[in-house]
Amino acid sequence: EVFQSSQAAVAKLAAETAELIRANDAAGKQTVLGLATGGTPIAYYNELIRLHQQDGLTFATVTSFNLDEYAGLPKDHVESYWHFMHQNLFNHIDIKPENINLPSGTVATADIPAHCAEYEQAIVDAGGLDLQILGIGRTGHIGFNEPGSPKDSLTRAIELDPITREDAAPSFGGIDNVPTTAITMGCGTILNARRIVLMAWGEGKASIVNEAVTGTVNDIVSASYLQEHCNSVFFLDTAAASIL
Ligand code: GLP
Repeated sequence: EVFQSSQAAVAKLAAETAELIRANDAAGKQTVLGLATGGTPIAYYNELIRLHQQDGLTFATVTSFNLDEYAGLPKDHVESYWHFMHQNLFNHIDIKPENINLPSGTVATADIPAHCAEYEQAIVDAGGLDLQILGIGRTGHIGFNEPGSPKDSLTRAIELDPITREDAAPSFGGIDNVPTTAITMGCGTILNARRIVLMAWGEGKASIVNEAVTGTVNDIVSASYLQEHCNSVFFLDTAAASIL
C-alpha cells in the first residue's frame, strides 16, 4: 500500500493497532505485538504514544516481543534495542514491564541456543504474534535475518553483514564499535505472525523494496519471503515505492 507520506501510513497502522487491541480487550484477550527497531518505526511509536495519551488507548493487555538485539550490549547501553524501545515507546505507555520481551544481548555464548529456544517458546505460550511490525535493512533483512537465512529459521545468533554494520556505524561512533553478532527472531518466527506490516520510507529504500516485492522469493533478500504470507503488507511512502 502506497501513502502520500510516512505520517499518513503510520496513522493508519496505529489506528489498526488500536482497533486490534480494543477488539481483543473486548473479547477478554491479550494482544501480542512483534516490534521492530530502527529509524523507520519511530513515527509509528509516536502515534501509539499519542493514542495512549490523548485517546485513552491502554497497553495493559499487550505483550510485546522484539525482533532482535545486538550480542554483547547490556540493556543500559545507549545503542541496545532494549534502550531504544524504552526510550521510544515503553517509557511512555502503560505496558507492563513483565510483558515486555527482547532477546538478551548478554547471555553467555554457550547459553544462547537455550535462550533462543526459550524466546520461541514464550511467543508460543503467549498465543503467537497477532501483528508483526517490520522495517527493512539495506541487505533486504527483516529483523537481522541476513542473506542466507532460511525461510523456516527460528530465533538464533547471527553474524551481521558488513553492509548492516556499516549502516549502524554512525550511531556507534565508528564501525569498530558495532557488534559483529546479534540475536534475531528467524524468518519462520516472523512468518508465523497472523499479520505482518513492513514499513519503508524514502528513496534509499526504493531499490531493496522493489527486490523484495517484485523479485523472486529467495534467501538473499529475506523480506521476499513475505510474498508467501497470506496476510502481509508493505506500507510505503511514494519515494520508497518509486521503483515498483
Ligand atoms: C536494523 C534492524 C532492522 C531495521 C533496519 C533498518 O538492521 N535490525 O529491524 O529494519 O535496521 O533500519 P532503519 O529503519 O533505521 O532504516
